[in-house]
Amino acid sequence: MAPRKLIAGNWKMHGRASSLAVLETLVDKHLDPACDVLVCPPATLIARLAGRGVDIGGQDCHWEELGAHTGDIAAEMLADAGAKAVILGHSERRADHGETDAMVARKTLAAWRAGLVAVVCVGETEAERDAGQTLASIAAQLAGSIPEEATAENLVIAYEPVWAIGTGRTPTLAQIGEVHDFIRESLETRFGNGAARGIRLLYGGSVKPGNAAEIFGVDNVDGALVGGASLKAEDFGAIIAAA
Ligand code: G3P
Repeated sequence: MAPRKLIAGNWKMHGRASSLAVLETLVDKHLDPACDVLVCPPATLIARLAGRGVDIGGQDCHWEELGAHTGDIAAEMLADAGAKAVILGHSERRADHGETDAMVARKTLAAWRAGLVAVVCVGETEAERDAGQTLASIAAQLAGSIPEEATAENLVIAYEPVWAIGTGRTPTLAQIGEVHDFIRESLETRFGNGAARGIRLLYGGSVKPGNAAEIFGVDNVDGALVGGASLKAEDFGAIIAAA
């Protein structure tokens, strides 16, 4: 049986007054219980938004629980604030902060230590796709970023082609299907069928109300990680409805 769908919103470095209104609108609409919803605002908003009917997550964490790491936040601190999950290894963090697969793996372990679901992002650059290296790039990121302790309950994987993020460009459905099938097969090889079939595989990159339904119809797509469209109540609500 396919896992329950998950629609996650990544607010990135957005989330002042207008975004708070988004969440309130969604809560007021009584979200469709047929799919799970996760909203990942900036860390400053987690405590304020947690416990209001939608699961809340962070966008990054450090791998240590405490220490001299100015500007960082521990997974335990996200959990203390009410987070249930954390996005890790987003390509913007890999690019802006030099995050490597090894760092993402340590952060994933930290998330699990704190009882959070890790939403680990992988995705090829446009140059890698043009060079026919898409699956090799995804394989390397999966191998390096996902620790052995992964289960269907503690891990979600988001496939986000870097070139599709915030650009309005999306891969073809066949391209999305090829990568999601490949991720599922890689997980089965590594973790066995039971865990691998339950780990949710989200697609992320220019998901909008107009393309959500067809993307959700692709095999092995168990939901979406939504950026820009998660900041608009109507759009996010339409994507949730499409799931
Ligand atoms: O994490 C979600 C993201 O990177 C996709 O952003 O704006 O293309 O939906 P967007």
